[in-house]
Amino acid sequence: MSIIKEVKGVLHLEEVALPAVAEKFATPCYVYSRAAITANWQAFSEQLFNENSEAPHKVCFAVKANSNLAVLQVLAELGAGFDVVSGGEIARVLRAGGEPANIVFSGVAKSDAEIRYALTQDIGQFNVESDAELERISEIASAMNTTARISLRVNPDVDAKTHPYIATGLEDNKFGIPMQNALTTYQRAAVLPGIEIVGADCHIGSQLTELEPFLAALERMLALVDTLEENGITLRHIDMGGGLGVTYTDEQPPQVAEYIQAMLKRLQDYPHLALYLEPGRAIVANAGVLLTRVEYLKFNGHKHFIMVDAGMNDLLRPALYQAHHNIVNVETNSSTAAITGDVVGPVCETGDFLGQNRTLKVRSGDLLAVKSAGAYGFTMSSNYNTRPKPAEVMIDGAQMHLVRARETLEDVWRGETLIPSTSLK
Ligand code: LLP
Repeated sequence: MSIIKEVKGVLHLEEVALPAVAEKFATPCYVYSRAAITANWQAFSEQLFNENSEAPHKVCFAVKANSNLAVLQVLAELGAGFDVVSGGEIARVLRAGGEPANIVFSGVAKSDAEIRYALTQDIGQFNVESDAELERISEIASAMNTTARISLRVNPDVDAKTHPYIATGLEDNKFGIPMQNALTTYQRAAVLPGIEIVGADCHIGSQLTELEPFLAALERMLALVDTLEENGITLRHIDMGGGLGVTYTDEQPPQVAEYIQAMLKRLQDYPHLALYLEPGRAIVANAGVLLTRVEYLKFNGHKHFIMVDAGMNDLLRPALYQAHHNIVNVETNSSTAAITGDVVGPVCETGDFLGQNRTLKVRSGDLLAVKSAGAYGFTMSSNYNTRPKPAEVMIDGAQMHLVRARETLEDVWRGETLIPSTSLK
């Protein structure tokens, strides 16, 4: 759900005019809508939390998509679970009021310290990605006199038909345990001390715009469930990961209802099996924009450049994946002539663009909104070029809350020190 609307020629998020946000908190600035996050979450929860279900399904928001504490808080208050990939993300979820029991911990290189921390906090489960990790979790849990609930993340070898950097379920990817080894690893897990098998997990990729790869992965997961059952290992749930795509421009991903119903239908033969999902992008991408201001216009004789105050350090997706984000005027009644050019940032890299070949009616000082920026926007930002990270603002009805202050330079170099001076005597 997108919640941007135009009122008298000015873009609003919920009741708040975007120029008012820029005036109060300056630019560049991420702006999120609580109502949009809530509606996107409810699209999942309405499908999955029905009273009649024998097995309690779970939706675990993929924290990597947007880990701002207030975003996590909104979701925690709605009863969300969380998919995390680091000790840091566990700590964020707990800080925001999330339930430890609703946390699933994925990631290919969990450290001893992270495993210990997760066990101390008694999180819901580990999604184990290798035999070596399984052995390590068993050792640590046994030494702590506790039990780790685990799913194995298996690699179903399904082509997600998405950008190669965000496809994760192919044999060549580093993620998960190969399907052909899964039974052996489960059998090992069944006899290891400190381990309780609870489920199976997969995640085939991100920004999927078709149902078919999800259903193909589900078939392979259910074949595994059957094999395990034949070998005396009963699972309580399967976790089909995240990956449902969103509309950035003209993509037409399946509706949440269609996606979930297709899977639930197939799961009718497995009434004891709960379905877990780990959506990230589908919950937050279209619930946020990056607000930026035009600094300069430049024409080099054959090409126009619209230079803005947000760069690839603020929003990396266009530079890294050639991702297309719509960029629109915040004030839409401009009488300026339209120009077609690249929207570029201040960073000293040719790849520092937010959009290429865009037609906009802009002058220096105008505000632009980079749309669909709520997922993998701030979380992938950096301080490259010593650029302080931008502010984050949560809109709630007519209110705006600063949920992350713009960094200061002191923030940027915190922890750095000078060495003793070697000035000549
Ligand atoms: N679960 C696991 C184990 C994952 O690795 C991911 C995403 C998700 C869930 C959530 O996937 P989603 O529902 O958001 O598609 N930075 C990239 C996306 C990387 C996704 C990595 N894994 C981008 O900006 O497109």
